[in-house]
Order: sequence, then structure tokens, then C-alpha cells
Amino acid sequence: MHFFRLRLVAALLLGITLISIASTYFDVLAHKHTLRSDLARRTQWLAAGLQPQIEQQLTMGAKMDWPAMLRALRLHSDQPAMAMFDTGGKLLASTGDDALPWQALPAGLLKRALMLNKEEGAFVRIPDALGEAGENSGSASNSRNNGTSSIRSWYEDAIPLRNGAQTVAVLLLMTDAEYIHTEGTEVWRRSFLRILAMVVLVVVVTLFMVRWFLQKPVVRAADWLRRLRHGEADVEEGASEFGYLVPLAKEVASLAENLTHARLAAETEARLRDRGEHVWTADRLAVHVSERLGSDRLLVVSNREPYMHVRHGRGTECIVPPSGLVTAIEPILQACDGTWVAHGSGSEDALFVDQHDRLRVPPDERRYTLRRVWLSPEEEAEYYEGFCNEGLWPLCHIAHTRPIFRASDWSCYKSVNARFAEVLFEEMRGMNHPVVFVQDYHFALLPRMIKQVRPDARVAIFWHIPWPNAETFGICPWQAELIDGLLGADLIGFHLQAHCNNFLETVDRVLEARTDWEHFSVRRNGHHSVVRPYPISVAWDEQKSAAEPFRSDDAAVDVNERNLLLAKIGNSTTEEYACAINRTSESALAVDSLHRELGIEGKRLLLGVDRLDYTKGIVERLLAIENLFQRYPWYLEQIVFVQIASPSRTRIPSYARLRLQVKETVERINHRYALSHWKPIILIERQCSHCEVERFYRAADLCLVTSLHDGMNLVAKEYLAARNDGDGMLVLSHFTGAARELRDALLVNPYDTEQVSEAIHSGLRMSPAERRLRMQRMRQRVKEHNVYRWASDILTDLCAVQIEDELLAVSLNRAHRKLA
Ligand code: F6P
Repeated sequence: MHFFRLRLVAALLLGITLISIASTYFDVLAHKHTLRSDLARRTQWLAAGLQPQIEQQLTMGAKMDWPAMLRALRLHSDQPAMAMFDTGGKLLASTGDDALPWQALPAGLLKRALMLNKEEGAFVRIPDALGEAGENSGSASNSRNNGTSSIRSWYEDAIPLRNGAQTVAVLLLMTDAEYIHTEGTEVWRRSFLRILAMVVLVVVVTLFMVRWFLQKPVVRAADWLRRLRHGEADVEEGASEFGYLVPLAKEVASLAENLTHARLAAETEARLRDRGEHVWTADRLAVHVSERLGSDRLLVVSNREPYMHVRHGRGTECIVPPSGLVTAIEPILQACDGTWVAHGSGSEDALFVDQHDRLRVPPDERRYTLRRVWLSPEEEAEYYEGFCNEGLWPLCHIAHTRPIFRASDWSCYKSVNARFAEVLFEEMRGMNHPVVFVQDYHFALLPRMIKQVRPDARVAIFWHIPWPNAETFGICPWQAELIDGLLGADLIGFHLQAHCNNFLETVDRVLEARTDWEHFSVRRNGHHSVVRPYPISVAWDEQKSAAEPFRSDDAAVDVNERNLLLAKIGNSTTEEYACAINRTSESALAVDSLHRELGIEGKRLLLGVDRLDYTKGIVERLLAIENLFQRYPWYLEQIVFVQIASPSRTRIPSYARLRLQVKETVERINHRYALSHWKPIILIERQCSHCEVERFYRAADLCLVTSLHDGMNLVAKEYLAARNDGDGMLVLSHFTGAARELRDALLVNPYDTEQVSEAIHSGLRMSPAERRLRMQRMRQRVKEHNVYRWASDILTDLCAVQIEDELLAVSLNRAHRKLA
């Protein structure tokens, strides 16, 4: 810093001095120019006055007494010295400065005036020896040189004098111009003093600014970086340390975050190794997948995009849509990079892509590429709302909403699948053996379309919703085409074995294909598709989990109590437990603050988090809450049920009806039981960010997942993953895929209102020890079967798929012929 200051001062000194010298130089030039013009004008003006007087005398023909005439004309001592010359350059007379050696003056100006026959003027420098004579001259009195200068400046003005048409003499006026030089020197002297004062001032102010605005933030930032390196500071705190250097702060903060992340990841790995645990983490997945993929790149395709740009007030906001699929796939892409192709459905999406409709996401980290595909409003209506969500969605979910199949929707579904295929081919250009991971029922035809053009691609499709039995699927008029499209994939994934069974049965019934029940695969037209269950899950943050002082592993359950509890779990308990929530002080504060925001201090919080979808059993859940108050009125004023309902597919009539039904039911129950200071149900009908929902998860004494039918349901797993304090309880529908794994949840039939209310009652009065034990086991399951493991299982199986050479050659030939 010291050296920096020295250099800064030196640079400032040099810079300011040079600039000031240059500016003074031009000032002096301008000033001299003005003085010289002024002097020349004055002399010429005087000469112009004298000339007619002399010429008049000449015309009168009198014999001229030149010395007398000049004396008569020179009225004042401060007028210029004058001399008269004949046309041969001979001095006739002079006045005003007798000592001026008029004869020795350079003759150039006289000659020029005579030759051109007009007045001529010029500045001349005359050696002081000549000029000293002028000391006595009144004309030079106001600009006396004190004798130090050896040369003196003069302005000489020569005017030809005529008698009639003939030039008979020349009048020469000499004005002392030395004062111009003296004034220039004076300006330089004043400027020097000004420059000196300015340099001192600028240096002092700059040093002061450097100290306050540069040195202090730099020292603070350096201190923060040092503490961060030693793990004593956190990343958020850093931005404030940088003060006004915000852009730099952002970059350094993200660098620091990466370093912190890398260090924590290394610690996590070491801890897991030490405990002999094989838990999948984002970092393990990244390494694993990149080893499997080698130079190949991962392409993911889904209808829903992970980031949507939407209008927000006057600006734009980037949101993550409420989607289980996004929750699951996002961590994989973040871990492995690659390209995610999806429908650009945000109102402002087009403003954020490059000329190839691509952008890097997440917006702050840019870890993978999102390629947006545009759909017209008609396509959205027919493909997405129509065929996908009024047809396939109710077809595959047994929730008693009748599927609607329209030929126009089907034809649009086909063309949108083909559009996505084209985009994928563009993204695959230049790639050998691309790996494509297709998502969900929106793209059943895509695997076949991809293979027809790129038989070298490895293609997997994961069906995120249930696959119903063969009879039910047979309701769809285009079941054969859908199944044929799916069988283009090398790997077809479902959540559950039961869905795989249903799928194989449907294939058996609908198509000419060889189903192999032993290895769960289908062979059709020489192509081989493997069908496997991969129960999807959520990201598990081992670092957060380990950072929590009260960990599930440390749950205060001793071995005997644990065995007793294990024997008891499954039977309903009758004792009333004091269910004081034993939280860490940090999480207790967070919970208190949420309770205060909601105005429910001191109450126990029950939570539901869903998209507003008829498969989620929201109305049935509300009825179960009502039933709870009927049967156990002491819960009145003691509990509050918060339902977060994100609007979904709002243009579809069945969804619009559901929304009304939910609102009416909430209002009716609230009307029935609410008191002035308490209401039993709070409905939050908007999309909440992941962070917001996490606060609710951490505060909820009980989470209710009562879907009528659900492929997996990730809310149940998210709730468990969020409960680092090891507390809470889950009421879970039998008809979710999650129920197959989370056997320690309070499992219910959502249609059985009394059973659900009874489960809520059991959950609320369950002993802390039992709660913790159940939560511990469920959390362990989610931890071990997290989404990184899910992704690794699918991608490992997909990368292991043998693309049979012979078959590939035949298909490639066919594909090339088609293209030709
Ligand atoms: O479960 C199927 C699914 O596509 C999920 O990925 C997601 O939770 C939900 O449907 C989202 O639906 P949409 O994309 O239509 O809003």
C-alpha cells in the first residue's frame, strides 16, 4: 500500500504538472496574441491619422522641414518613435528616440512597403545595444526592461507617403513591444504558484480518498477473506465488507462460495468415508457421470423448464416453477453440466436467450445450458393442456376425473414431439453417441423419433406419473402409437415395480413385441428396451444435515427405549404425551418468527404443500381436518392447518373447478370454527419459492400428503430432508409411490376421512421419542436413496446399454437413406 501511494503521488505530480504547463503555455500564447494585435492596431490607427496630414503638406509643394514636422506630429511622449525615409532608404528625420540607430534597422519592411506601395507592419527583435537607446524614449516608458534582456521587441509600421500619384517618402513608426514579453513571463510566474497549490491540494485529497475509500474496504475485504479461509466467516457477510466495490464483491463472493463448497464437499466425503457410508452427493454424481459419459454430453428434455422469466411489476423475475420433475432433474444438470431442452413458457423468456435460444443457468452460477423451445398458444392448448393434461394425466392417475381425448390434440401432440426432436438433433450436431434423457408423458413419441435419425444415441425416458393397468390404458385411442414411441428408448423408467408390471402387460396386449418378464425388457423390430423401477427422490444436503447441532443420528433415544418403540410402532398409542417440541435454539427462533408472521403463536402447525391438482386430495384433507375438530374439539384454538396451494394448469376446467371447491371448503370450515383471534385453516394460494416452503417444512409439527394417486410425491421427501432437527411427523397416503419407501409415516387412505383425522391425532400426541425414531428412519431412507443416487442409477444403466453394432449399421443406413 505504501509503494502504491508513492507511485500514485508521483503519477499525480507528473500528470497535473504536465497538464498545467500545457494549459498555461496556451494561455500565454493567447494572451500575447491579444496584446500584439492590440499594439499593432493602435500603431496602425495612429499612422492612419498622421498620413493625410503629411501628404497634405507635401501636396502644397512647400519645402519640407522634416525634423520640425515630425516634432509637430509627435504630440505625446508615449507615442511611438517616428522617422522619415526617402524612397532610397535614406533617413530624412527622426523623433521620439534620437538614439535609435534608424539607419541600422533592417530595411526589409521599408522596401516591402515601397514595393507594395501600402502600409506594412511587423514585430522585430532588436539587440539591446540598439534598444537601450530607447530607455529615454517616452514611448517605451511603460515597458522598461531593466537591462537583463539582451534583445528587445518592437513593432514597426511603415507607411508610404505620396505627393499626388508619386511616392516621395516613407514614415516609420516604432513601438516598444517588450512589455508583451514581460507580461508573458508574469503569467508563467503566477501559473507556477497556482500549479504548486493545486498539486499539493490534489495530492492531499487523493491520499485522503485512497485511505477512506480504497484502503479501508480493501483491508476489511482482505480480513474477511482471511477469516473465510479459516472458516470463521460466511460468504453473505462478505458483500458488505467490499462497500462500494459491489461487482467485485459479487465475483469474489461467488469464488469464495465455490471454495467453501469445495472444502465442505471434501469434508463431507471424508466424514462419509470415515463412517463407511455410501451416500450419493452432487459431487460424487458429477464425477461418476462424467466418467460414464466420457466425452459424450448429456441432453435432458422436458416440457417444463427449470427457470422461467416472467413479468414482475415493471421488471422481470426469474422463478423456479413448482414441479417435482424440476426438483429432481435440476441437481443432476448442475452436477454434470449438459443441455436441458424445454418449453420456454415464461412471458419474458424470449428476452433472455441468445440467437440459438440458449442461456446458461442458474442465472447466478451458469452451470449448464437451457435451450428454450417456443410453442404457440394453440399448441399449448392442444398439446399441453389438451392431450397431456386432459387426456394422459387423468388416464394415468386413478383420481376419478374422466380423461378427454380429442383427435386435434393428438395431432398437435405428435407435431410438438417432432419439433422437440428437431431441436434435439440440432443440439446433437457434432456429438458422437449423445446421451438423451427424456422426461415424462409429454414426450412418449420422442424416443422413437430420436432413434430413427440418431440410432447411435443412447435414449432413456422416465415416466414421472403412474402407469395404470392395461384395461385403463386401453381407454386411450392412440395407445399403440404411444407405446411404440416409448419402445424407441433403450431404457424406460418408472417409479415403482408395479408401474413396470402394468407397462409390460400393456405392451403384451397392444403390440407385436417380445416381452421378457424375467429380465423386464421388450424386443421389438430388432430393438431392445429395458424397463426398470427407479424411485425418484430429492437432493440430500449432507453438509446442512451435518451442520445442524441436533442431528437425526443423535436423536435422544436409548437402545432399550428404541427397542420398545420399535415393537410398538404400528400399534396406536393411548397415552397422552406432552409434545413439547424440543428444537435447537436456532430453529426455534426461525419457527417463532414464522408463527409470528402468520399470527399463530403458541399453536401447533399442520402443513400441506401441493400444486392445486385434483390428484393431491386437498379437499379430502380439508374434510379430515374438519373431522378432527368434530371428534376432538380440544384441538380448537390449539392447531392451525396451513395449505400452500400453487396454482397449476389454471386454464383447464377441472382445475378451475377444483380451485373453487378448495376455497369454498376452506371458507366453510373457517366459518364454522373460527374465533375472533383464531382460524383453523390458512390457505396460501400462490407459488412459493423453495426457501419459503422450507421455512414451513421446518416449522410444521405435521406434514399432510394425502394424494388420491401419485407416482411418487416429492413433498413427502422434501419435508423429511428439511427436518435436520429430527422432529416432525408425516401423514402419508397409501396411494403415493413414496408410501412404498416411507413405512414409518402415518399411512392413510385419503378417501377415509376418519382415518386421516385419526392419523393426525396420533401424530400430534405421539411421544417425542417415537417421533424422532420414525423421522430418523425415514430420513435415513431419503438420505440413502436421494436424487443423486436416482440419477446415477438411471445414467449408469443407460451408459451401459449396448448399442448393437450390426443393428446400428442397419439403422444408420436406413436413417441416411431417409435423410438423402
Ligand atoms: O409428475 C408429473 C409432473 O410433470 C411433475 O414433474 C410435476 O410435479 C408436475 O407434473 C408439473 O406439472 P406441470 O409441468 O404441468 O406444471
